[in-house]
Amino acid sequence: LPGEINNTSFELTASPADIELSDDITLAGFQFNGSVPGPTIRQTKGSEVDIQFNNGIGQDSIIHWHGLIVPPEMDGHPKDVIAIGSYDYRFSLNQRTGTYWYHPHPHRITGEQVYRGLAGFFIIEDEEEKALNLPRGKYELPLLIQDRKVNDNGQVVYDPSMPERMMTGFLGDTILVNGVPAPFHEVEAGTYRLRILNGSNARIYNLAFEHDLPFTVIGTDGGLLPEAIETDELLMAPGERADLLVDFSKVKNQNRVQLVSKPFDVPGGGGMMGGMQNMMGSDAPEQGGGFSLMEFRIDGASSSKSVDLPNKLSESTFPKEADANRSRPIRLAMEMMTGHTINGRQFEMERVDERVPQGDTEIWEFINNSNVPHPMHVHAVQFKVLDRSGARGLIPTETGWKDTVLVMPGETVRVIMKFDAEKGMYVFHCHNLEHEDNGMMANLEII
Ligand code: C2O
Ligand code: CU
Ligand code: CU
Repeated sequence: LPGEINNTSFELTASPADIELSDDITLAGFQFNGSVPGPTIRQTKGSEVDIQFNNGIGQDSIIHWHGLIVPPEMDGHPKDVIAIGSYDYRFSLNQRTGTYWYHPHPHRITGEQVYRGLAGFFIIEDEEEKALNLPRGKYELPLLIQDRKVNDNGQVVYDPSMPERMMTGFLGDTILVNGVPAPFHEVEAGTYRLRILNGSNARIYNLAFEHDLPFTVIGTDGGLLPEAIETDELLMAPGERADLLVDFSKVKNQNRVQLVSKPFDVPGGGGMMGGMQNMMGSDAPEQGGGFSLMEFRIDGASSSKSVDLPNKLSESTFPKEADANRSRPIRLAMEMMTGHTINGRQFEMERVDERVPQGDTEIWEFINNSNVPHPMHVHAVQFKVLDRSGARGLIPTETGWKDTVLVMPGETVRVIMKFDAEKGMYVFHCHNLEHEDNGMMANLEII
């Protein structure tokens, strides 16, 4: 696991590096503070953090704190990129405890920089959450899942083709968990808390365990759910987080269990996308294909305590539909000549696309008129998913606070949120990073 940063004042330095992921895989990439993924930042709710970001990678960059609600000049808007030197971040953590993350946000090269190693966890904790006695220390595992393309020389390469940039996004053939290929972890036969982040550029996972091992979803993007939900599969799009409890003592007659991605349907576009990829000579499984993510090797004994979850995990007062000041359609489409668009347009640095009065509650309707999935992410807020058209309905993570929501082809997903962040310019975008870099992003001004 990558190192941790606990002090509230620290430096985060991005530098280029050849990173040996294993004997036969090298990442010609970037690293934060000498590690891939970047160090896990753990801070207490209410604290003031002071972070100096040093950019030494030789490309424009700026850091965004995904899920954190911070003032506009602290949010990593792409207009704030620096070519070299440092950028000072100071903000206070006045929001729910939860599993957040950080990554670069320069226009057109976010996908490349995240792919080449720049991403890390940002965890907010507090005493109240500690009182729940969730598994801690070695029983709490932050797991960053990413797919990567590895070439014949054993190097991770970022070279999306035109159709990958413009349509599917870049799908890899090799899974890395916390930067490690063919990942496994030794666990005791007890209960673990897995904080999972899908930090992939484009790939969606349908998380499940072998041997039908069930698991409990306790949290998502914006912290703990109101109530725990047991399930045996969970769809996770790029940018989303899932906080899970899994009891390895329930695995019978086996000393290992795989965390897998189960096959799932991509409505409408799946077949065509798979066909495109094969035409392009990609070895990567198509979007929706099944494969293993990592292995847990179970050691019979356990010193972990069993976890008694309260009926109510956390207090949440979600905004109500009746309190919404307005509803905004956000149309997601793909134009043949330009690429992905939001309400018919591609990102322009200076154009304001949506203006929201501070303090207003709004319903945003994400309407996916294209044939590819779009995980839509809004900065400066946490929202509640109201509903989704079609058969899929809401999934367990969507009972909690979200900042990223998967909108499948043909779906309309409505979310509700209150804009309480400081006035100024933020963005919202598709978190398929090739789509984002291709212009599927828009400016959101809180006025
Ligand atoms: Cu994780 Cu604007 O992004
Ligand atoms: Cu974000
Ligand atoms: Cu998209």
